[in-house]
Amino acid sequence: MKVLAISGSLRRDSHNTALLRAAARRTPAGVELELWDGLKAVPPYDEDDDIEQAPAAVAALRSAIAGADAVLFATPEYNHSVPGALKNALDWVSRPHATNPLRNKPVAVVGASTGIFGAVWAQAELRKVLGAIGARVLDRELAVGQAAGRIAGGVVGDEELLAQLDDVAAELAAAVETRRELVAAA
Ligand SMILES: Cc1cc2nc3c(=O)[nH]c(=O)nc-3n(C[C@H](O)[C@H](O)[C@H](O)COP(=O)(O)O)c2cc1C
Repeated sequence: MKVLAISGSLRRDSHNTALLRAAARRTPAGVELELWDGLKAVPPYDEDDDIEQAPAAVAALRSAIAGADAVLFATPEYNHSVPGALKNALDWVSRPHATNPLRNKPVAVVGASTGIFGAVWAQAELRKVLGAIGARVLDRELAVGQAAGRIAGGVVGDEELLAQLDDVAAELAAAVETRRELVAAA
């Protein structure tokens, strides 16, 4: 099973990207988690450019999502919302609406912030956007507050947090299995 991991942060020492790296090192047997690092190359959405031959970075993202069984997002919170770069990338992915690669795809959202609330508003908004796009969004939440203390030097040393990450990955894998069974039964 292939899970694509998308961080909403472009920052080199991002806590959110560190969360995804930690998750990638701990995937259960049979699950491969690949970190996508093309966010900075995605151009601003322009419907005039959203034509048969999409910009290369957009085509690569669409294809990475299409080739994954599930997607795990880790988002920072910028001004109580989703970082613009991530929302912009999702606007590209969402078209064409009926056949976009996130449609019916199991997805999970986690988030880290340096404040105490752990990017809860950004996560809620991201879940809303992903639902609008047609993804199967897990209800499961993981809000990592005061991230600078819990993810020191890019390493997640907090055992409780690692266990919570494991739970999210397991739930995402279970959602993929359920979806496979539904598709097989249809
Ligand atoms: C433009 C901007 C806006 C921010 N707004 C919020 C906010 O609304 N809530 C919050 O908890 N943290 C906010 N922060 C702090 C981020 O949580 C913090 O920078 C975090 O480390 C970003 O995630 P990253 O480490 O993955 O890059 C903001 C940071 C920036 C740069």
